[in-house]
Amino acid sequence: MEAGESVELEAWLEARESFEPPESFVEQANVSDPGIYEEFEEDWPDCWERAAELLEWDRPWEGVLDTSTAPRYKWFTGGRLNAAYNCVDRHVEAGRKNHAALRWIGKRGETETYTYGDLERETEAFAAALRGLGVGEDDVVTLYLPMIPELPIAMLACARIGAPHSVVFAGFSASALETRMERAGAEYLVTCDGYYRRGDALNHKGKADRAVRRIDRDIETVVVDRLGGGLPHSLGENQHDYDGLIERNRGRTVEPVARDAEDMLFLMYTSGTTGQPKGVKHTTAGYLSYAAWTSHAVLDVKPDDTYWCSADIGWITGHSYIVYGPLALGTTTVMYEGTPDYPDKDRMWEIVENYEVDQLYTAPTAIRAFMKWGSQYPEEHDLSSLRLLGTVGEPINPKAWKWYYKHIGGEECPIVDTWWQTETGGMMITTLPGVATMKPGAAGPPLPGVDAQVVDEAGEEVAPGEAGYVTVNKPWPGMLRTLYNNDERFLSEYWEAYSDPDADEWVYFPEDGAKIDEDGYITILGRVDDVINVSGHRLGTMEIESAVVGVEGVAEAAAVGGDHEMKGEAVYAYVILEDGYEESGEMEQSIIEGVEEAIGPIARPEEVIFTPELPKTRSGKIMRRLLEDIANEEDLGNTSTLRNPEVVDDIQNKL
Ligand code: WTA
Repeated sequence: MEAGESVELEAWLEARESFEPPESFVEQANVSDPGIYEEFEEDWPDCWERAAELLEWDRPWEGVLDTSTAPRYKWFTGGRLNAAYNCVDRHVEAGRKNHAALRWIGKRGETETYTYGDLERETEAFAAALRGLGVGEDDVVTLYLPMIPELPIAMLACARIGAPHSVVFAGFSASALETRMERAGAEYLVTCDGYYRRGDALNHKGKADRAVRRIDRDIETVVVDRLGGGLPHSLGENQHDYDGLIERNRGRTVEPVARDAEDMLFLMYTSGTTGQPKGVKHTTAGYLSYAAWTSHAVLDVKPDDTYWCSADIGWITGHSYIVYGPLALGTTTVMYEGTPDYPDKDRMWEIVENYEVDQLYTAPTAIRAFMKWGSQYPEEHDLSSLRLLGTVGEPINPKAWKWYYKHIGGEECPIVDTWWQTETGGMMITTLPGVATMKPGAAGPPLPGVDAQVVDEAGEEVAPGEAGYVTVNKPWPGMLRTLYNNDERFLSEYWEAYSDPDADEWVYFPEDGAKIDEDGYITILGRVDDVINVSGHRLGTMEIESAVVGVEGVAEAAAVGGDHEMKGEAVYAYVILEDGYEESGEMEQSIIEGVEEAIGPIARPEEVIFTPELPKTRSGKIMRRLLEDIANEEDLGNTSTLRNPEVVDDIQNKL
């Protein structure tokens, strides 16, 4: 291509505000009939049987939706099924035992392929091993593993015996693991010796051991040997070697337990407004059918595809769209342990080319990095196998969207910008790639059967272009059922704001700001609670604040999200020291370490700003919004209503 031509193309792309899905895609799409929106509306809630029909049931459901205990909705009542059977065994029974289920690529370039047959053997052996350790139905098993095949295997082994798993992101600290195990009442843990970061072996077991030591009951721990002697470790009391357990249990039969539709499949801890992580409870039938349906309708997953979601299984995206959705549909799912820039910045494109990846689902933060590195990296590779692109986790700006469309998709792949949350279980707002026009920057209309809108404080729908809040007026199968051991908080956090319990009207509030256009396309503006989104990772500012305040010498702290070119948002920690402590590089270092210790390196403050006071309202509340505006160097408007307006100048001078 001539240079002039490319400039012209860029300009044309820049000016375009909407894109039609390519004809070649529409022709083969799983869903291509625009009538689906109306069909779902007319046939609601029975329309959701389409999702349930993607699964195999031990006993069919009797009712689609039970609203009698709303907002604790029940889906597919009376039905029984097993999630692991649906993700593994049934594909083997269908004659696809030699089809690749999981393609794993390790950090050091190691690769492994598990066929559906392999996956069945391995999960059955590990399920037998877990039983042997005493794990019974409904016992929570905590999984604290990096991106290695044993993580999905352990999830499926738990699902096979009806033990809910609670995966804790491997980047979280010992103390974060401890809190999550305590709150879940977990007595079982699966972890590993260590893993590699860049070239170094990190000691992961040390973190797990520290957490377990602080828990006041016996924990049976299984340790996967990831490093193969790279970091010698020894097993203590109640600790078992994964490989040894598999050897001893190979060939044992473990029938998949037929679970009630509403039985818990897993728990996933996430951040909210208060300092304590929330245990989001997902169920067997509703969650799995929703993950499968959205993988089918939105990601266009087909059994013969090679599909790649680059998230970490430690977060909800990996649960729904690396493990459960794709495996339920019997496809080949790629699992990548490494980072996009190691050994070089073309790593992702090398994988797409080598594995002939059909769909790529990634995060805007990654796309911003690709853009910065430049289009020469994808250009070195043949990306023509790609059929669809997706993004998730944070808003994607039109520029990054168009870059992705042009340089990765070659203008031949639809992009789905999917808005959803840990709590929703699966995608809620996005275009259907075989149906709808795409508008860069807007996630799209709600999916068929999803009743989402943008409203003002009073719950009235806002006019096009005006900012408001997302609400969801009807239940959906993938929704969380409650917060584990905290049903009260479930009600107050998600249902109180917009519901009218007296009229039995329940409105789910996801705590996101948004606007809507004339065509009903929703643009997400971001969280309206005290949650910040660092590189697509959801963190609670309160958790960070309590970590900072826990550092010796800190009197008070406020943590807010400031805009960050690459990460989306970054943590800004404003800190007041106790008398007798001086601001210094060491103090800053111990604050950073304190946060890493309490939560993990992902929550590490980008900036620590020492200040003698924090801006407060007259009633004494810290003005977080103002601190955010200061971080973003925005116009602060009128600050005279503060109790201490003079502090604003002081803080601004420090940045
Ligand atoms: C944000 C991740 C804009 C949003 C699946 C939500 C998004 C939070 C998008 C949930 C998107 C997710 N556009 N914002 N496409 N997807 N978000 O629970 O603020 O880790 O509330 O789930 O991420 O984060 P969570």
